[in-house]
Amino acid sequence: MRNRMPLVAIALAVVLGALLFFLGVILGRGAREARAPQPQATASVPVDARAVFIPGSGQIDAIRRGVPVDQEGHPPPIARVENTDIKRVRAYPMQPPTIPHAIDGYQVDRNSNRCMLCHARANAATFQAPPVSVTHYMDRDDQFLASISPRRYFCMQCHVVQTDAPTLVANGFRDIDSLLADPAAPQAEVH
Ligand code: HEC
Ligand code: HEC
Repeated sequence: MRNRMPLVAIALAVVLGALLFFLGVILGRGAREARAPQPQATASVPVDARAVFIPGSGQIDAIRRGVPVDQEGHPPPIARVENTDIKRVRAYPMQPPTIPHAIDGYQVDRNSNRCMLCHARANAATFQAPPVSVTHYMDRDDQFLASISPRRYFCMQCHVVQTDAPTLVANGFRDIDSLLADPAAPQAEVH
């Protein structure tokens, strides 16, 4: 019995030591957290809808739109698709016309092409849709195919829906008609 006393004392000391150690760890952490600077809650900055031109650098900031990198920006809402059935003028004769109707959920894949349900020559009368033009049936050797040419199969490669999105970057494009009508514009030589 007398021999066991030192053993019990050592065990008690070890347990006490461990307890004090963990107490220290817990208290120390609390103190450290109290000292650490809390992250500031900052309101995110609205990102302007237009791309911002950064003078001097000659760069256009189309992604952050002027919001500094150390601040969080919230982007403008996604543009609304217009479903008005109103055609927009083509800027030049070979421009793929914009789509004057919504195309949500229209499936175009290997097995089916929803667009051709209405825009195929044979179906256009039923749906009163303009049939795709003859170029859509031509292969790259200008041969006319019976069905839509594979290179015109994925319509949204070229045609986009109409949205109310503002112009991202200002540009001075004028179509040929307005140029021809403007006496101040340099006239093209006619041979
Ligand atoms: C339910 C029938 C239907 C479907 C499906 C359809 N369209 Fe149309 N589309 C029309 C009609 C009708 C018009 C004529 C304008 C209008 O009424 O919106 C039109 C107009 C267009 C025009 C304008 C043509 C021009 O000369 O300005 C384009 C481009 C077009 N559609 C592309 C597409 C694409 C691409 C798809 C598939 C994603 C598609 N359409 C699916 C019926 C349809
Ligand atoms: C490689 C680009 C491209 C693809 C892909 C394409 N188009 Fe076009 N589309 C054009 C261009 C360019 C025009 C205008 C000139 C022309 O008619 O070729 C046009 C014109 C049209 C027109 C107007 C026709 C007219 O007579 O005014 C319709 C409708 C149309 N496309 C529908 C479609 C549909 C539906 C598909 C998918 C099956 C499709 N396009 C795929 C480029 C494309």
